[in-house]
Amino acid sequence: MINIVILPGDGIGPEVTTEAVRCLELLSRARGLGLRFTGHHFGGAGIDAHGDPLPASTLAACKAANAVLLGAVGGDKWDEAPIRPEAGLLRIRAELGLYANLRPARIYKGLEDASPLRADLAQGTDVLVVRELTGGLYFGARTYSDEAASDLCSYSRPEIERIAHIAFHAARGRRRKLCSVDKANVLATSKLWRKVVSEIAAGYPEVELSHLYVDAAAMALVTRPRDFDVILTENLFGDILSDELSVIGGSIGLLGSASVGGDGPGLFEPIHGSAPPLAGKDVANPAGAIASAAMMLTELGLPECAQLLTVSLERTIEEGHRTADLGGTTRCSEFGARVRDNLRFELARSEAGER
Ligand code: NAD
Ligand code: IPM
Ligand code: MN
Repeated sequence: MINIVILPGDGIGPEVTTEAVRCLELLSRARGLGLRFTGHHFGGAGIDAHGDPLPASTLAACKAANAVLLGAVGGDKWDEAPIRPEAGLLRIRAELGLYANLRPARIYKGLEDASPLRADLAQGTDVLVVRELTGGLYFGARTYSDEAASDLCSYSRPEIERIAHIAFHAARGRRRKLCSVDKANVLATSKLWRKVVSEIAAGYPEVELSHLYVDAAAMALVTRPRDFDVILTENLFGDILSDELSVIGGSIGLLGSASVGGDGPGLFEPIHGSAPPLAGKDVANPAGAIASAAMMLTELGLPECAQLLTVSLERTIEEGHRTADLGGTTRCSEFGARVRDNLRFELARSEAGER
């Protein structure tokens, strides 16, 4: 039995996770994976049900699970709440020790024309952002008054070392290029970041390391995205650059992510938010949630099932099914249904191949 906690969250979160879970249920039945799903309140839904974005019962269930699949959190309704839904997200990342957030972005076949960049610039883009997820400004001390406010940014050597190792490992398994992004011309944390990353590089001679300041990186990503393989960066820069990168492929709705590094379960979530204006309309793009489910299968030691799901998602996109964010009319639920049609086909084909 593999226990998976589902945190649908708020806004479009429940709609996109439903489609991902249906794909996983299909795979589990067909392959006897024994996946067991239990849903829990989280984010704004946690505040409404328990007065806490990360209720104790939800946290306990996550800690006991094999993996956690998350939708998205947040919405106007809770923007003035004493603890916002987003605080629950930061807390669960910290509680599970998920210091590494992997955000792959590429151009899917069939979406070459969906990029806001000229096709000749966008084509071939295939980048993995390795975002540090439990340090930096997100977790430093804050002060606030209506007259002055502050956020502390700090990083320790071990925090930088462990995320650097994850990024170098990832680069070794890809095109062996790692670009570390910082603001070492201004920030002390970035000065340390650059020094430590450069030292760790000595253990990975086959990986070509480069450094960019974050402002230049933001520009380079949209002028020469193909030059990048793995980008390693701190928490806030990774948040911003991965949204920028996501639209090169056509929409933020396409990107999944894996948050890993703890002793317990990993957490898998699309990189987008709760998109309140789209909520409840069955128009959101569930591709990022489905891609996150595929990353979860890999992490659970089921790479063949992950591949079946990824291929089914790719085929669905290639067939021209597009949700509204990509200029199409396919509903969220229809898109999910088409992925499952392709998944049935892939399952049958792989079984025929085994016979
Ligand atoms: P957002 O990612 O929700 O939306 C940004 C834009 O992308 C909007 O135009 C939206 O319509 C579109 N979009 C996002 N996901 C989409 C999808 N799957 N399909 C189609 N279009 C999609 O970011 P925002 O508007 O800045 O934030 C809304 C709320 O979400 C806020 O409360 C924010 O804090 C929260 N948020 C949560 C997460 C998370 O849970 N991981 C991530 C980002 C933002
Ligand atoms: C993300 C989101 C979160 C982040 C917010 C909602 C706390 O933007 O997952 O990318 O900044 O990490
Ligand atoms: Mn973000």
